[in-house]
Formats: sequence, structure tokens, C-alpha cells
Amino acid sequence: MMKNRKIPYLSFDGIHDEIEEELIRAASDVIKSKWYIHGKSCLQFEKEYGSYSGSDYAVGVNSGLDGLIISLQCLNIRKGDEVLVASNAYIACWNAIARVGATIVPIEPSSRTYNIDINKIEERITSKTKAIMAVHLYGQMCDMDALINLAKKYQLSIIEDNAQSQGASYNHQKSSSIGQISSTSFYPGKNLGALGDAGIITTNNSELAEKAKKLRNYGSSVKYVNEVIGHNSRLDEMQAALLSVKLKYLDQWNAQRREIAQWYNERLGHEWAAIHPSNVCHVYCIQSEARNELQKHLNGHGVQTLIHYPIPPHLQQAYEHLNYKKGDFPIAERLAEQSLSLPIYPGLSESDIDYICDLILEFNSK
Ligand SMILES: Cc1ncc(COP(=O)(O)O)c(C=O)c1O
Repeated sequence: MMKNRKIPYLSFDGIHDEIEEELIRAASDVIKSKWYIHGKSCLQFEKEYGSYSGSDYAVGVNSGLDGLIISLQCLNIRKGDEVLVASNAYIACWNAIARVGATIVPIEPSSRTYNIDINKIEERITSKTKAIMAVHLYGQMCDMDALINLAKKYQLSIIEDNAQSQGASYNHQKSSSIGQISSTSFYPGKNLGALGDAGIITTNNSELAEKAKKLRNYGSSVKYVNEVIGHNSRLDEMQAALLSVKLKYLDQWNAQRREIAQWYNERLGHEWAAIHPSNVCHVYCIQSEARNELQKHLNGHGVQTLIHYPIPPHLQQAYEHLNYKKGDFPIAERLAEQSLSLPIYPGLSESDIDYICDLILEFNSK
């Protein structure tokens, strides 16, 4: 085995190096245009992303979190309403629900897919339930058929959180085009990442799109006329122009991620990425009872890993007021204790994956 490799958790070498000239040209065009907010780059990227995702409308925003908050507001979700969300979701999902004053109703995930467990939803639906937040975690989509059936049965809205699943699909329909409304984050480390903060809301409903446009821009459609209390959450021209360049490569990068996941699967005898063929493998997550020691072992040999996420939202200090305690969501807690995310990004070679897997197998055989 080759020793002393340095494999970071994420590297942009294989993503930005090849398209550097295109990115620089796009940035330079924006600088020279002398128009930096809500100009032609934003409009163009909205058109391109809407079309890529099969959504009629796309509204650029400043981040995935803002996209979730505005999406909830577009659906008039507020104090007194309940929103169902996975207990192991990223904190932003919980924060968005809290920010609009609604009640977070955590549902345990399936330990097979890490997404909301369809069989545990119905028992938590009440007359106050307004929506299900479908967070497509790690690049794999939720069971949308089952969610749509439940949503129809109880007249609920579905908000898709597409932050980790750009390009994934379900029954040939792209993520972020299935629910009533969806938020996508373009945080730099996402499959499609900006070079700063950015996000987008997508929907097939023109009224929701109009509301989102107003809400992202001070509640205004006509300058200095403010119809509702809005946000400053605009997708700037620079990020939009850079995202337009990168969007062209997303499918190619996603295919590379799937290939890497397959290499991991073959060597580790793991099947996660094979659960759904359209998984875009944002995170390759393994479980280990000796997770912390395994992470140290890998780190000691130059392999950086991350944990998505070490503390589940219900045990975060921010949610102390909800009075949850350890043991309330045992699956989310176990995932927080045992999950380990391995490097996965375009540019990793098969021999890098051999190196990482040999280290894991060596650790497991002790
Ligand atoms: C599942 C999920 N939802 C929401 C977000 C929030 O996105 P942002 O960081 O752009 O606000 C993220 C990104 O980190 C995420 O992974």
C-alpha cells in the first residue's frame, strides 16, 4: 500500500482547475457589465436551472436556508402550523421551520436510506400538520411516491430540500421539481456549488414563484413599493454567472461521484449508493461502532473525513427550549455517533479509493 497520501475531504482541483478559464471569463464579464444585482446573469441562470430541473419557475436566492424559509412563507406556513421533518436532517431544515414560527415535528429516518421513514409519518399527522419537508440527504431522494400519497391523503404540501441532491431524479423526474416548492443550496461544497453563498427556489406554481420573487427582495416587485415584509436574499450576478458555467458540468461530475461510490461499495461490501440508481452521491457515509477511532486512524494516514452530523438537531443547544433529551430519537442519535463521511468528489482516483478502503479494512480486521 502506498503510504503518506494526503486526501482531503473535499478538493476543488478536479472541479475548478479544468474550467478555470471559463470561470475567470464569466467573472470578468460580470465585472465589466457594471451591474451586480439582479441583472442578466441571474435571469439566465434561473432559466437554465429551471429547465435543468424540469421546473417551470426558478427564483435565485442568497442561500439554501433562505430558500427554505421563503418556501415555507410562500405556503403561508406560520405559528400554529406543524411541519414534519427528519430527525437527522441538517440544522438548516429545522431552523427554517423555527424561523417562520411553525412547530417542528421530527420523524426518525430509515437507517437504510438515512431519509425520513415513510412508515413513521402517518402517526404524527394532526389537524395542524401543513407540510412535509422532504430532505434528500447525501444525494439520495426520499421515497417521493409514498410522500405524495400521504400529502394527497391529508392535503399537505411537500417542500423539497434539494441542497444535497442537485441532478438526482425519481421516476425520471428531477429532484426539486416534484413537491409544491423546493429550495436548493449552492454552498461551495455541494455537487453544484457557487464560489460563495447562493441558492434557488423552484416550483411549477406561478403564484408561489411570484411570492418568492417578492419575498427575496424586500417584499417588493416595484422598487420602493413594499407589499409584505420581505428579506434581502438575492442571487448576485457574480454567483449566477459562475453557476451557469458550472451547471453544464453537473451531470458529468455526478457520474464521477457515482463511479467513486461504486468503487467504495465494491471494496467495502457496502450497498448504499446502489439503493437508487439516480443517487448523486453528495456524501458517501459509512457506519462504524468505533467511528471516532476509525476517523483518527484515517486521519493519521492522511485521509480527512467528516461527520454529517455529529449532534442531531434535537440535542443542539439552539433547541434546548423544545426539551428533547437523549434517547428521544435513537436512530438519529445512533447515526450521529456512528456515521463517517468518506472523501467523494470528481478528481479522486481509483487508487485513492483503494488506499482509503485498505485503511478501513485494516482497521476493521483488528
Ligand atoms: C440538507 C441541507 N439543507 C439546507 C442547507 C442550507 O444551505 P445554505 O448553507 O446554503 O444555507 C444545507 C447546506 O448546508 C443542507 O445540506
